[in-house]
Amino acid sequence: MSTQADVEVSYDVSNEFFRLWLDKNMNYTCGLFEGTDNLEEAQTKKLNWLHAAAHVSPDKRLLDIGCGWGACIEYMARLKGVRDVTGITLSRAQHAEIERRGIPGVAAQCISYVDFVPEKRFDALVSICMMEHIATPQQVRKGEHIALYRDYFRRCWEWTTPGSWFGLQTILRNRVPRNREHLRDIGWVTYEIFPGGLSLRLEDIVMAVNPYWEIMEIQTRREHYQQTCAEWLRRLRDHEGEVRARWGDKVFVDYDRYLATCVTGFENHYQSLAQYALRRVD
Ligand SMILES: C[S@@+](CC[C@H](N)C(=O)[O-])C[C@H]1O[C@@H](n2cnc3c(N)ncnc32)[C@H](O)[C@@H]1O
Repeated sequence: MSTQADVEVSYDVSNEFFRLWLDKNMNYTCGLFEGTDNLEEAQTKKLNWLHAAAHVSPDKRLLDIGCGWGACIEYMARLKGVRDVTGITLSRAQHAEIERRGIPGVAAQCISYVDFVPEKRFDALVSICMMEHIATPQQVRKGEHIALYRDYFRRCWEWTTPGSWFGLQTILRNRVPRNREHLRDIGWVTYEIFPGGLSLRLEDIVMAVNPYWEIMEIQTRREHYQQTCAEWLRRLRDHEGEVRARWGDKVFVDYDRYLATCVTGFENHYQSLAQYALRRVD
């Protein structure tokens, strides 16, 4: 699992740095470019898909596991009128940003899901690209990952009320590159940009949800993540001078390489993205 120190390598470069090239609400995951080429709209469409998948309504208690800088919890509270929203993240910088936003009805904690003890059960769950942090590449090589993912789904089951739904999103690793340069770049992103984590295989989810959750729907969104990363890369390059001046050449060069690697990865089917609607098994 990514430790707090690992997570802070990935997300604590600087909130102002990420604000320069993410959408205005700072979603750091794939948008849904259905009928739009606009990143902000695509991110809203993605959140709307998860809102439906998790069967969220204003009176339900909602938990977002791995809530980033708060884009989803803010959307659910402000735009969908959900009155009781909790978000957890392992990044102190992200937690500080959520506190800064002061969103009514939202409580955020800087805590790992393995240490999280909710006071009351939730009626709906959302988790957007957090599961990539659960198993390290070493644990996957040893075959320990399914048990770790199943343990996560068990906790999610225990935190919820009967009849709950879960809107889940994960990056998938589909194919190993045959091209040496692509292989090297993907390995570099894995170990340098997201230490302690690895994207999943679709069959991992299919195996690990049992016996806690039933998969009601799966959508794959490979092209949408390619387009999201291409838009992030375009925005990063638009701010090249400022990034180099404020955070140094290495930050610009590394993030340029990482985002370009992701565009290539989705384009070549090395990676994909999946969204799931899960229903609690009661
Ligand atoms: C790729 S970011 C996605 C953030 C957010 N869901 C979004 O869509 O923008 C992954 C998130 O998972 C969180 N995370 C990683 N490991 C975690 C853990 N063990 N417990 C809770 N959150 C964790 C990180 O802090 C980060 O907020």
